Amino acid sequence: MKKSAIFFAIAAFIVACGGTSEDKTANNTVTASADAPDGEKLYKTYCVTCHGLYGDMQGNGAIDLTKSALTLDERVKVISEGRAGTVMVGFKTLLDEAKIKALAEHVEKLRK
Ligand code: HEC
Repeated sequence: MKKSAIFFAIAAFIVACGGTSEDKTANNTVTASADAPDGEKLYKTYCVTCHGLYGDMQGNGAIDLTKSALTLDERVKVISEGRAGTVMVGFKTLLDEAKIKALAEHVEKLRK
């Protein structure tokens, strides 16, 4: 009984390790093959600190994105250049054009 418990513990350990490395492979494949950047994911990484998950947090004086009336082009500009005199910084040094466009499109989805 005791021996089999140890066996199962070892087996579970091996399975767990195998699972982890499989996950890594899967993630790498996804990253490498993803042509279109995931706007929602980028938003969660770079924007929620001020705008919140739903765009309406208004942290650090941020504008409520659910009420933003900017066009797609205007949003792309604000996200890449930032807005002078505010903590809304430009992201063009950090993110390429496709990613910024994906973000602008995600912000559109937040609008109510
Ligand atoms: C450090 C806080 C902060 C972060 C991080 C931030 N923003 Fe902002 N954002 C602001 C502030 C503050 C404003 C309002 C500027 C103003 O008063 O005009 C703003 C304004 C905007 C606007 C203009 C809305 C309008 O109607 O004028 C857009 C679009 C926007 N942010 C998108 C984003 C996106 C997308 C990200 C992530 C890539 C992001 N922001 C990250 C603080 C932030």
